[in-house]
Amino acid sequence: MAITDWDHNSWYHRLLLRAVPADADRVLDVGCGAGALARRLAATVPQVDGVDRSPEMVAEARRLSPPNCSFDLGDALALDVAPGSYDAVVSSAVLHHLPLAEALPRMAGWLRPGGVLAAVALPRADLRRELPVDVAAAAAHHALGLAFAAARPITGAGLFRHEDSHDVMPVADGTLTTRQTRAAAAAVLPGVRVRRLLFFRYLLVWEKPA
Ligand SMILES: C[S@@+](CC[C@H](N)C(=O)[O-])C[C@H]1O[C@@H](n2cnc3c(N)ncnc32)[C@H](O)[C@@H]1O
Repeated sequence: MAITDWDHNSWYHRLLLRAVPADADRVLDVGCGAGALARRLAATVPQVDGVDRSPEMVAEARRLSPPNCSFDLGDALALDVAPGSYDAVVSSAVLHHLPLAEALPRMAGWLRPGGVLAAVALPRADLRRELPVDVAAAAAHHALGLAFAAARPITGAGLFRHEDSHDVMPVADGTLTTRQTRAAAAAVLPGVRVRRLLFFRYLLVWEKPA
């Protein structure tokens, strides 16, 4: 990994945190990995649950997280959750691992009326439509990477440094472009919004009708 490399997923955690209703009591993080997003949520949400099918990731999440976080080892598609259990279901860099037509209705079913589904995930490259964004992202990635690498020793802050578990984290490439994701999501969740983000990600947000 280059010294100027940095973590796009944690950069976008703030978008997911912002999407969670202010009065949320219970939030589920699907594909929680080592629990970085769950820990940020747990600063304001009384109960944060996470699920991940990687034993290494779940062990790390349990080791690092406070008592108001709980983590299940398992496949999110087989998770047994009572309908309407959560105020928000969030997910970072996982949706592109899952079949959308199956995963999105399941995740939506776990929300209470008025609850929010928010996910950041990786699209497949779509050079015909998104080349200018990708070129800008590559330039900004390197410029910010240099700035973070220079500032870390001075500030002592992590500044989007990859977590220790990054090298063993299960990853996948996007299989659908942003446009294909938008169409596939809209087919099962009318009213869903999907927009391309700068750093090789899209944001999907859906609010369950009250
Ligand atoms: C790229 S990592 C992202 C982890 C974490 N959300 C983050 O942002 O750091 C993708 C995670 O999704 C998990 N995952 C993939 N498919 C899954 C499934 N069907 N059920 C549960 N977890 C899954 C993987 O084990 C992995 O930890």
